Amino acid sequence: MRRVVVIGSKGQLGSDLVRELGVRDRILPLSHQDLEICDHAGAREVLTGLRPDAVVNTAAYHRVDDCENHESRAFETNAAAILNLGRICNDLDALLVHVSTDYVFGGDGDRTSPYTEEDPPCPLNVYGASKLAGENLLREECRRHLIVRTSGLYGLAGDRNFVAVMLRLAEKGRPLRVVDDQRLGPTYTAHLARKMVRLLASTARGTVHVTNQGVCSWYEFARRLFELAGLTADLTPITSQEFGAKATRPAYSVLANEALSRAGLEPMPHWSQGLADYLAGKRSGR
Ligand SMILES: NC(=O)c1ccc[n+]([C@@H]2O[C@H](COP(=O)([O-])OP(=O)(O)OC[C@H]3O[C@@H](n4cnc5c(N)ncnc54)[C@H](OP(=O)(O)O)[C@@H]3O)[C@@H](O)[C@H]2O)c1
Repeated sequence: MRRVVVIGSKGQLGSDLVRELGVRDRILPLSHQDLEICDHAGAREVLTGLRPDAVVNTAAYHRVDDCENHESRAFETNAAAILNLGRICNDLDALLVHVSTDYVFGGDGDRTSPYTEEDPPCPLNVYGASKLAGENLLREECRRHLIVRTSGLYGLAGDRNFVAVMLRLAEKGRPLRVVDDQRLGPTYTAHLARKMVRLLASTARGTVHVTNQGVCSWYEFARRLFELAGLTADLTPITSQEFGAKATRPAYSVLANEALSRAGLEPMPHWSQGLADYLAGKRSGR
């Protein structure tokens, strides 16, 4: 049985990974309380003591707008700490599975076709740049790594993700203005976690895109959510400019899951199925 550490084990992806991995592996979950990845010496001590075969890192500083004002914190968490994890994994001869983002893309203009793993990254904001720096450091320094890029995550353990916030506001009858000019492949963390377990067991290494299939804008995503949830919401499409977020976000950041199919793994379910499964999980109180 492999010994697999999950860093960020109480997060939305981390908690789904702990559940999925527990079936065949010995799980060693580490919450933020157990391990602070920016404490380089502390991380080395904890991980060395656990003797893992693989370390899955889901921890990040991913508040996209806050990153614009806290650039050094973004790079410390999303790049320097990741390099440290990579070096520790080298010394332990462990595989490091690291989660990255579609926001490493978007800066190349009028894109309308999904980004493949071979496309050159082009981030538009500090968050994307810091996550790209983390990826590049692993490529240069970490012998055994798997970088999983994903997009628009929501899971049952999260209460600040787009889906949870939309449901909360709609239930209160609030008018909702949602951007309709950013297109992506939003992804349910339970689906992602299940696929990551398969990837871990496969020979796939390097960079792999894993997102729910299909494309939508945030507005279209919200509209489908309310249809599936049977909620009547006062929903209006707006532009990113009207919304006026601090960080610029890609108008298009859809990821083609080519490496996944090269590894012989089934495609992920459609994003609409992700929403349906999330709502079913919520109803069953999972
Ligand atoms: N959320 C998205 O839409 C999205 C999209 C694409 C890619 N990603 C990437 O996917 C990964 C997982 O995202 P998620 O949505 O599951 O995040 P999440 O729910 O916020 O979970 C992250 C977990 O890591 C912990 N953590 C944060 N900073 C840490 C640190 N410095 N040291 C140790 N633990 C720390 C958090 O604890 P606290 O809550 O106590 O801080 C939390 O439990 C991240 O790498 C993110 O960049 C996310």
